[in-house]
Amino acid sequence: MTVNLESPAAFVPTWSDLPAAQQPEYPDQDALRKVVTELASYPPLVFAGECDQLKARMAAVAKGDAFLLQGGDCAESFDGVGAEQIRAKLKTLLQMGAVLTYAASVPVVKVGRIAGQYSKPRSKPTETRDGVTLPVYRGDSVNGFEFTEESRIPDPERLKRMYHASASTLNLVRAFTTGGYADLRQVHAWNQDFVRSSPSGQRYEQLAREIDNALNFMHACGTDPEEFKTVEFYASHEALLLDYETALTRVDSRTGKLYDVSGHMVWIGERTRQMDHAHIEFASKVQNPIGIKLGPTTTAEDALQYIERLDPDREPGRLTFIVRMGADKVRDKLPELVEKVTASGATVAWVTDPMHGNTFEAASGHKTRRFDDVLDEVKGFFEVHKELGTHPGGIHVELTGDDVTECVGGGDEIFVDDLHQRYETACDPRLNRSQSLDLAFLVAEMYRSQ
Ligand code: PEP
Ligand code: CO
Repeated sequence: MTVNLESPAAFVPTWSDLPAAQQPEYPDQDALRKVVTELASYPPLVFAGECDQLKARMAAVAKGDAFLLQGGDCAESFDGVGAEQIRAKLKTLLQMGAVLTYAASVPVVKVGRIAGQYSKPRSKPTETRDGVTLPVYRGDSVNGFEFTEESRIPDPERLKRMYHASASTLNLVRAFTTGGYADLRQVHAWNQDFVRSSPSGQRYEQLAREIDNALNFMHACGTDPEEFKTVEFYASHEALLLDYETALTRVDSRTGKLYDVSGHMVWIGERTRQMDHAHIEFASKVQNPIGIKLGPTTTAEDALQYIERLDPDREPGRLTFIVRMGADKVRDKLPELVEKVTASGATVAWVTDPMHGNTFEAASGHKTRRFDDVLDEVKGFFEVHKELGTHPGGIHVELTGDDVTECVGGGDEIFVDDLHQRYETACDPRLNRSQSLDLAFLVAEMYRSQ
């Protein structure tokens, strides 16, 4: 890959005068401008060439030759930038990747919701507790989680902390994925702390033994491919805060084109995908692979317009539709979208997010999701693609490497009454390690029988 230092050349942010939903209201605009100027002078977190490489991988997904595994926290937090937490998330994704690659026999493109996922769109602007109403928490990049007036004031200095938190996370991710930890011969080591305690860990151990046998066989035949020693891993987040994303957008000196160098892939969320608003205009101007979340109100006409706006050259890999309809709607709503998009001749990647349409509040007040609903939405997604002869391109999930109790169900069952035990998310409920592995095995089965 050509490593290219993007120049800080000027460009016109054609999106900055358009309406943008979900942006923080900073009390001190001068302070914001100073921060943004400083951020614009910081080095890129990723290179344009890496974004192009991911686009090529996503093209394989769009064409039906690879599967996307995209996962990580709903909201990363500054406190969570520790070696242990990052390693645990990575380990979970590597284990899921191994399961999918081996059990479904498909190349897996691995993309974290990591190193930049610090900003959250919210359904309500305020939150009320015990009669006190304060601005809602919008992610560590905006304000504090703590329920006090002071902590909920948007602080632009947090944008710099977001950059530094993303940089240190990405640095460690790069070290883990290329420095030996992700070597396929470590396939057992990723499971060591886990295998004894959980049925999915034991199932994984069995699969790891098979992978080991295959590797030993290949070694005995005299081959020891370089591809097994490192893992290609990419970082993604929702491009929500346009002040931040614009400051991290640079002109690529090779091509003169714009890249958002805050992450390899960015996506536009369900609440900010208004066609004539700033987020879509921004996404249309940067060359990164782009995801768009499609909720149950999306029409086929909308989908076709996103293609027109974001992928006018019909470049496979450029556009990924991340479908999050809900388990009860996906079978009704998805077929028309897939049919009309396919008929238009566009080659997009279709990915299921089985999390965001399946959230509910438990009696205890915890926001949660049922593992069975998550699984059912994935099943519905696979059924629709099977029926239409199109490719179910991947899964987009919220997960953590820690043994939290945030979603109910799974092989190592978590009950509603258990939720309080380890409920640690800063936003939406995540699958824990065991639930994530269970899901990977079940998705691999669905893929095989597709
Ligand atoms: C998310 O991915 O965390 C999210 C908020 O999703 P959506 O935009 O689909 O609601
Ligand atoms: Co979420």
